[in-house]
Amino acid sequence: MRKLTNLMITGAAGFIGSNFIHYLFNQTDFSGSIINADKLTYAGNLENLADIHSKFGRTRYFFEQVDICNYNATKSLFKKYEIDTVVHFAAESHVDRSIFGPKDFIQTNIIGTFTLLETAREYWKDRKDILFHHVSTDEVFGSLGSTGAFTEETPYDPRSPYSASKASSDHLVRATAHTYGLPVTISNCSNNYGPYQFPEKLIPLMILNMLEEKPLPVYGDGKNVRDWLYVEDHSSAIWLILNKGLDGETYNIGGENEWENIRLVNVLCDKVAEINGRDKDYYKRLITFVKDRPGHDRRYAIDCRKIKKELGWKQRKDFKKGLDLTIRWYMENKRWVERTKSGEYRKWLENNYSEQRWELPDR
Ligand code: NAD
Ligand code: TYD
Repeated sequence: MRKLTNLMITGAAGFIGSNFIHYLFNQTDFSGSIINADKLTYAGNLENLADIHSKFGRTRYFFEQVDICNYNATKSLFKKYEIDTVVHFAAESHVDRSIFGPKDFIQTNIIGTFTLLETAREYWKDRKDILFHHVSTDEVFGSLGSTGAFTEETPYDPRSPYSASKASSDHLVRATAHTYGLPVTISNCSNNYGPYQFPEKLIPLMILNMLEEKPLPVYGDGKNVRDWLYVEDHSSAIWLILNKGLDGETYNIGGENEWENIRLVNVLCDKVAEINGRDKDYYKRLITFVKDRPGHDRRYAIDCRKIKKELGWKQRKDFKKGLDLTIRWYMENKRWVERTKSGEYRKWLENNYSEQRWELPDR
């Protein structure tokens, strides 16, 4: 029986990790403690967890600024908090950045995951009541033609520095389980969307550009296809895996919700116009086709029948509703948007954060 009491969640100041913590505290019966272990790169924003900090800070929620590549630092966290579960989100996550600067991806995604596995193995020894859950992506499987979907058995074929680094980390997790018997689970998920996503990814970038009446850059012919999942549905899948997933197993998670980029951008234009009381086509004039991303994967689609059948998971958020919620979130959280876009959230961090004392800024 897994303990699931003291969870180290790496990268939890980022998009999916912070949503996962909200989900745990607000929508599950989880009664243990959470240690958010995050280096706070450009993508890490503690303001994503301001409400959690004020309700549970230093009782059930602890933040530690740590680089997962640092063996001694991560090891001391295992001891300090008697960690019995790792949920490993920390990563460099944006494909475009991996094209222009792959080095950080190799460092954090491969060396960081390896380091974390080493510390977990060293601290947990032969215990079986513990779990290392590794959060990964469907991009490790490569690119599809117009039909078919990735299953858990699809051979790996990563094609960007990002997906190659994630594929490598998945292999290291499996190898550690196979060779040393570490209890692990892995999930490979499709594209997420929802609140707190850093506005470099397609959906928040398009919403914010519309609000500022800036061009909407669509790569190539706009016909690349992604499978979109509301972030809360990803969280519920991970929580199920922690509770019921079998040691050593991989679970695919997806939205069963494929969209060509250009169709999706058009729907976003319609929805923002509707919410803002503009003419239906008001934002479409901003759509601008730009040079394609080098090596741009054409289509991703996930077959997630395994997690549905074996663990009873299902997606709950209808796409139109999820988009509506997401657009409204970016419109209503102006301060978060301003501070994120201007980089203010980082200046605050540099000035105010110390291991001993940190206060949240006015909201
Ligand atoms: P994100 O970029 O929003 O957040 C990443 C977090 O990791 C940030 O808080 C950052 O500060 C932290 N981090 C980076 N390097 C670190 C290091 N060396 N040590 C400690 N912390 C570090 O990413 P996200 O979109 O929330 O993705 C989380 C995970 O989910 C990643 O592993 C990603 O590969 C995977 N994933 C993402 C998606 C998606 O659509 N975003 C889909 C499937 C899987
Ligand atoms: P992205 O959100 O970066 O996720 P990923 O590359 O991991 O799938 O991009 C989603 C899709 O949108 C992808 O096909 C690239 C495309 N895209 C654009 O057309 N314009 C943009 O400005 C961005 C960021 C992405």
